[in-house]
Amino acid sequence: MKEKHKAIGVFDSGLGGLTCVAELMRLMPGEDIIYFGDTARVPYGTRSRETILEYTAQDVGFVRSKDVKLIIAACGTVSSAIGTDKALAAELAGNTPFMGVVVPAAEEACKATKNGVIGVIGTQATISSGAYEQAIHALCSDAKTVSAACPLFVPMVENGITDKDDIVVRAMTERYLSPVKASGADVLILGCTHYPHLIEAVRDYMGEGVTLVSSGAAAARKACSVLGEAHLHTDSTKGTLTCYTSDSEELFDRNAHRFIGKDLICTVNKVSVDELQRFHERT
Ligand code: DGL
Repeated sequence: MKEKHKAIGVFDSGLGGLTCVAELMRLMPGEDIIYFGDTARVPYGTRSRETILEYTAQDVGFVRSKDVKLIIAACGTVSSAIGTDKALAAELAGNTPFMGVVVPAAEEACKATKNGVIGVIGTQATISSGAYEQAIHALCSDAKTVSAACPLFVPMVENGITDKDDIVVRAMTERYLSPVKASGADVLILGCTHYPHLIEAVRDYMGEGVTLVSSGAAAARKACSVLGEAHLHTDSTKGTLTCYTSDSEELFDRNAHRFIGKDLICTVNKVSVDELQRFHERT
């Protein structure tokens, strides 16, 4: 198959990466997309870097087996664990172009900030890694960053607790975001791809004057320009979405529609954790 007609491969620990897929579909409706959500092992963000990289090697190995033209780690936690380690990215993805969400989000944040104060929220693993801060400082060395881990946001999103008026959502948003708000940040990176599902609550709390950068959507925009520069956009006008999940297909299907719209047409297939482990190519 011609390179440009191959699918784009996207993966996440769960459903959050669908926020990247939604933007890919909006920008490039002709592209075929293969999505893998490791819903049997979500969350990744509370685990050690070693475990996150072990799961990542299996996820990437699985997505690579679908012969894709680009792999997007639509997961802030995975992207942060890899960080700027190009050798590790090459070891994982081989010759297949590979990108994460950290650098695209940092680029959009640096462009958007006027006062040079950028907030970052993410999972515990993401915030502990300092990967977003490094990417921001590599682009704008005088930016001030303020970050906060939001460990309960992922389970809230996976369980559909996202309504901005929900008492739990309001309480957790205030608890996690109060230091970011106090810092005067005028841009906030939603450094975990699950968080756009809490965007109304975050916007309500931070105020309209703060620009919110969705890391998954930023990665999709970057992927669109990377593919364009490489002349790798498909000629097709109608793409397909094929999903794989490591847990129940039925659950995935139901939740996926909650994530990217009721009219979404996608096929959902199961890949067991045992099968995934066979894709463990790291030594
Ligand atoms: N969507 C993942 C991320 O962007 C969720 C993290 C998790 O599994 O804890 O970080």
